[in-house]
Amino acid sequence: MGLKEILFLAIFTVAESLETTTINYKTENQINFANVTQCDCGWRNVQNSLQIVGGDETGVNEYPGMAALIYLSSGLLFCGAHIISDRYLLTAAHCIYNKSPSDFVALVGDHDISTGGDTAYSAIYYINAYEIYPTYDSSTDANDIAILRTSTQITFSTYVAPICLPFKYATYDFSSQPVTILGWGQIEFSGPTSNVLLKAEVQVLTNANCQSSYAQVVLSQEICTFANGIDSCQADSGGPVMWTNISIARLYLIGIISHGVGCATGYPGINVRVTSFLNWILSRTSDASYCYM
Ligand SMILES: *[C@@H]1O[C@H](CO)[C@@H](O)[C@H](O)[C@H]1NC(C)=O
Ligand SMILES: *[C@@H]1O[C@H](CO)[C@@H](O)[C@H](O)[C@H]1NC(C)=O
Repeated sequence: MGLKEILFLAIFTVAESLETTTINYKTENQINFANVTQCDCGWRNVQNSLQIVGGDETGVNEYPGMAALIYLSSGLLFCGAHIISDRYLLTAAHCIYNKSPSDFVALVGDHDISTGGDTAYSAIYYINAYEIYPTYDSSTDANDIAILRTSTQITFSTYVAPICLPFKYATYDFSSQPVTILGWGQIEFSGPTSNVLLKAEVQVLTNANCQSSYAQVVLSQEICTFANGIDSCQADSGGPVMWTNISIARLYLIGIISHGVGCATGYPGINVRVTSFLNWILSRTSDASYCYM
């Protein structure tokens, strides 16, 4: 069954499953920074990666947090997103600005976007609420971050699972660190697009260095990435910028792809700096539990 058929079948249940749930508010001084005991996040299924010979293609389900945002009406992918808990994903605000939560779904566990349910773990989740950062500016894309809440709990497995949020690294600026970006590249570039999920290694720049490439002000709550002479790295807005703590082999969501990805263009990519929004994420997702990993 293809993606369009799945969406077609699913559309009949959407009216019922969409509740008008709002995300509970919790003030910052009430934040339980780590309601975490036995909790795991941010692993990578490396064995799946080894099957890929060359190229930038990821392994099937190599990155268990990856999600695609898909229009219900057309079945087309329009942005990336990333799983942070069993009810929440992060994406870029501009991806969903002016859209209704019932316009789109999150597709998790997938690899080849042309066929929809192509892995045993592909699943579609409806979105019953989202929240865009209050001072998101659609004219400049400042504070380009949004939280999506799924209608039902995301079923976790080895292959569909949350990435770690960088609570332990809230003071790191990650400059000069290698990071990985992911995407199907369906939207951002006019060149060939990919049906399979692609990855690229890029490097974090200091904001000062990044600023020298742009007339527009690079904000402290943004994080720039750059790839030296990389040929074809494609990604979609809303997708992840992931840093790995190599000694414990865990992935952290440190950026959300916002304007450009800094490959092939010669310009750095500007991403949302997730460490600037941790308190906001916690305060708006008080029913979630996160791993303090
Ligand atoms: C932590 O989360 C669990 C399960 O969601 C909940 O039962 C418990 O009350 C929470 N503990 C604290 C200290 O918030
Ligand atoms: C990676 O994680 C370990 C264990 O939490 C920590 O001791 C180490 O400092 C981390 N590495 C970096 C580069 O922060």
